[in-house]
Amino acid sequence: MQEKQSNNTAYTAIGIVSFITISFLVWLIYFKTPHQATGDWVEQLPAINALLNSISFVLLCSGYVFIKKGLRSLHIKSMIAATISSFLFVASYITYHHFHGDTKFLAEGPIKYIYFTILITHIVLSIPLVPLVLTTLYHAYAENFSSHKKLAKITFPIWVYISVTGVLIYLILNNFNV
Ligand code: HEM
Repeated sequence: MQEKQSNNTAYTAIGIVSFITISFLVWLIYFKTPHQATGDWVEQLPAINALLNSISFVLLCSGYVFIKKGLRSLHIKSMIAATISSFLFVASYITYHHFHGDTKFLAEGPIKYIYFTILITHIVLSIPLVPLVLTTLYHAYAENFSSHKKLAKITFPIWVYISVTGVLIYLILNNFNV
């Protein structure tokens, strides 16, 4: 009874935090007028974002291998570090968009279709990822490991997809967007 009540409180809090985060990102990317950039450092941010996504990818995969080998403590450390890395990515992404605004993709040919397929699936899946990560972490924190394991089977592949496609988007923009 008490467990159900604290779960409901946590789900409500996660729902509110996710809604605010996602609404803010939609406003930032699609509606806000970009602030004029103040220096070269802003142009370095996409590379930093790609690096943070790569770090999250490595930590997520290590965390998965660790739990499959029964190394619980390393699993916890890896997954918490992956969460921090993804959080830093979101902070850096917000900073970049605050100054730079939307990036136009101007290349033509097959790469255009590849790019937009990756971009659209990346954006669509990043919406449920926010509440999924928070709820997976909450179940682990509440030591409700059967729910943690069940949800982690959905959260983990989506998170891996988002981190890999984040890097791919950076590489395509850098190599094909002339
Ligand atoms: C959002 C971050 C996390 C993700 C994505 C994640 C992912 C996973 C995955 C994929 C599994 C294995 C499921 C399977 O066997 O197929 C798992 C199991 C497990 N995780 Fe996590 N994890 C995260 C954070 C944590 C944290 C912070 C803790 C501890 C406080 C934790 C503790 C455990 C434990 C104990 C198991 C084994 C459960 C069992 O076999 O009954 N995880 N997790």
